[in-house]
Amino acid sequence: MSKIKVVLFMGGDSGEYEVSIASSSQIKNHLDPERFEVYPVLIRGGKWYFTDENGIQIPFDRNYHCLQIGNDNVRFDCAFIAIHGTPGEDGKLQGYLDIAGIPYTTCDVTTSALTFNKYFCNDLAKQYGVKVANTIILRQGETWNPDSLVKEVGLPCFIKPNKAGSSVGVSKVYDIAGIEAAINKAFAEDDEVLVQQFIKGREMACGVFTMNGEVEVFPVTEVISKNDFFDYQAKYTEGLASEITPAPITKEQSTECRQLTEYMYRKFNCKGVVRFDYFLTDNEWWFLEVNTVPGFSSESIIPKQAKAAGFELKDFFGSLIDEALRNKKH
Ligand SMILES: Nc1ncnc2c1ncn2[C@@H]1O[C@H](COP(=O)(O)OP(=O)(O)O)[C@@H](O)[C@H]1O
Ligand SMILES: [Mg+2]
Repeated sequence: MSKIKVVLFMGGDSGEYEVSIASSSQIKNHLDPERFEVYPVLIRGGKWYFTDENGIQIPFDRNYHCLQIGNDNVRFDCAFIAIHGTPGEDGKLQGYLDIAGIPYTTCDVTTSALTFNKYFCNDLAKQYGVKVANTIILRQGETWNPDSLVKEVGLPCFIKPNKAGSSVGVSKVYDIAGIEAAINKAFAEDDEVLVQQFIKGREMACGVFTMNGEVEVFPVTEVISKNDFFDYQAKYTEGLASEITPAPITKEQSTECRQLTEYMYRKFNCKGVVRFDYFLTDNEWWFLEVNTVPGFSSESIIPKQAKAAGFELKDFFGSLIDEALRNKKH
């Protein structure tokens, strides 16, 4: 049987570039070489290329959706998207792959674009009856007044880019005097900024994916940051955060979170593996955000949850491709 040819997209144009590189090496290391032929393609600053064993960069042909390697014209059965942030998590790459007719491992264009926009996603989650923080959106060029923002969301509050990740550009603001600098910092990352009510609670994450057509929800993880919140430094510096899987919560709380996760996965029409992030306040689950291309590095939450749920990473990553092929649009 011939092997399944997989193009593994990595890199991207966001602050999560390094994370994506770590994610993709973990994926490549765990995809079964007996079943898959994997070609990592780096996307960065408008360039897309594969690097061969001699270090030669071979451009990915975006017109014919292939790689010309020597005399071989390599075409792909599936794309594994390991780019966090744009263009892998916001629907852009998904749009290209739909046009190219290549199935992929993530949510579709609509779900990716909608969930990547924290403001729209929050609003929809609220309509689905899920608790979310009170949020104001500021768009580039709009005027705002710190007093009225604070009157609306209270203090402390969170100020963050609407479309970004890894806590890049996120601030926790304690006083009115800190609002302006935090808004400017967030605008450096995106043209839309959220001013959001602070949710006081324990931070939790729950992954979910589909295997053989069945939705499988992972155990819940509690994230405890030594910093004031789960900022970039805490996310990527050894020892600054602990992640406990399964989370030390009651059985009922865990069931509630996992049911909520499956409910939202279905409501948002998610595909592939997705991680929902929450706060647990006095017995209430508040939705924070959803990551449709969650981290896959050895330090990331999803691989740990998959292992805790009893999956071998080889089977887990392989099943994401099998599922993409099963859903292939005809
Ligand atoms: N409204 C909020 N209340 C409490 N903590 C928050 C809030 N918003 C963000 N945070 C903290 O900031 C971190 C990053 O925010 P998040 O919205 O998840 O953005 P990113 O997409 O960059 O991960 C969260 O993991 C959490 O620790
Ligand atoms: Mg987050």
